[in-house]
Amino acid sequence: MDKILVHGGNSLAGSIKISGSKNSALPILAATLLTREPCTIHRVPDLSDTHYMLQILIHLGAQVERASGIVTVTADKVQSVAPYDVVRKMRASVGVLGPLLGRCKEATVSLPGGCVIGDRPIDLHLKGFEALGAAVRVEGGNVKVFAPKLAGAVINLRGKFGPTVLGTDNVMMAAVLAEGTTVIEGAAQEPEVCDLADFLNKMGAKIEGAGTRRIIVEGVSELHGAEHDIIPDRIEAGTFLVAGAIAGSGVTVNRVEPKHLTAITDALSGCGFKIEAKNQAITVSPNGAPKPLEITTEPYPGFPTDMQAQMCALLSTTEGISVITENIFPQRYMHVAELKRMGAQVQMEGSTAVIQGVERLTGAPVMASDLRASAALVLAGLKADGITEVSRVYHIDRGYEHLDEKLSELGAHIERVKA
Ligand code: EPZ
Repeated sequence: MDKILVHGGNSLAGSIKISGSKNSALPILAATLLTREPCTIHRVPDLSDTHYMLQILIHLGAQVERASGIVTVTADKVQSVAPYDVVRKMRASVGVLGPLLGRCKEATVSLPGGCVIGDRPIDLHLKGFEALGAAVRVEGGNVKVFAPKLAGAVINLRGKFGPTVLGTDNVMMAAVLAEGTTVIEGAAQEPEVCDLADFLNKMGAKIEGAGTRRIIVEGVSELHGAEHDIIPDRIEAGTFLVAGAIAGSGVTVNRVEPKHLTAITDALSGCGFKIEAKNQAITVSPNGAPKPLEITTEPYPGFPTDMQAQMCALLSTTEGISVITENIFPQRYMHVAELKRMGAQVQMEGSTAVIQGVERLTGAPVMASDLRASAALVLAGLKADGITEVSRVYHIDRGYEHLDEKLSELGAHIERVKA
């Protein structure tokens, strides 16, 4: 397993081009199952998660062509069973349930395992499918859904932790070919849900209200092929802005959608950093001593849970007491123990982290555990004394396109050691 060595102390400067969004590409690639015609998707990031999704589509019978970031999928004939050995690698594989149910009126997908950020139930997805008329059975580690026909319904998809992103995606994809109108109340408002709805509408679906809590889907008889550009990855952009805050003298992220990042740029402004947004670029610059902050993760447009670990790394060396409360995945603190190995002072109180900023962290061997925690450890190493050795970097490669290379381009002293 590869390792990343971060030699702390270099200052970052310059600009970086942000890739297409992982969390938009995954459901959009799944949505290509809804038509037998070719679909061409641009700016698909080169990640292990997108590779896994393409493997699943191929397993289901689709033809896939990939030329750098452009992927063409033709799902002329599909079968509706996605087995464990394919699904287990990536939880987002559950996102094929909705399109398979819509297209084939049945689907069998292995239940996703839990992961280090917590139990990852899909009860809300299944509630939505049942409301559309599907029968749901869980047996032998698989979830089976089938429906003689799908009929529009009014569905509330809000759970005790708020809306579900992939649940909203899945139900939307099952509803586009249902008879009649479906209303999804309590829908997720993330930009990635909007991007999926935009793609489905290009395929001939009739979806209104994406981006609000209420999405209305008018069922149609079939969908046709379409071409689509994936939106920029707001979490990758946020990760580089935090890197610039930790160790930068002026870092710019290019090809971003600033309106998707306001919760992140507001937080960095709250820490005292200078933020300049212009067209499709945002620059973060130091502006005096950073200030401590209180952050609570919330569904979009609130502060994203996927940026919580990265902010932990920044606030660990921000003088004063900062408080982070994680409302979406209360256990999402695998990075804290590793940051403490580097000298961070963090006190956990349930799903709240109380951080006493220290002058400097010290480089140490640390272990990546999930995608965003891993990125946070690399960021922490940028300003730490000495070398931070991050192992199990396959977690990083799941969701970041060449993170180490992009940080090197900004001036970081960082190397990947092939194990
Ligand atoms: C998506 O996961 C993202 N993944 C996650 O990003 C992100 O953290 C999450 O949304 C929240 O924003 C992709 O888009 C591929 P949820 P998703 O359903 O859809 C609970 C990353 O780092 N819940 O919105 O799986 C759930 O346990 C990844 O890129 C139920 O209770 O998350 C959680 O507490 C990590 N029942 C909350 O809702 C359900 O049926 C939000 O989960 C579904 C979810």
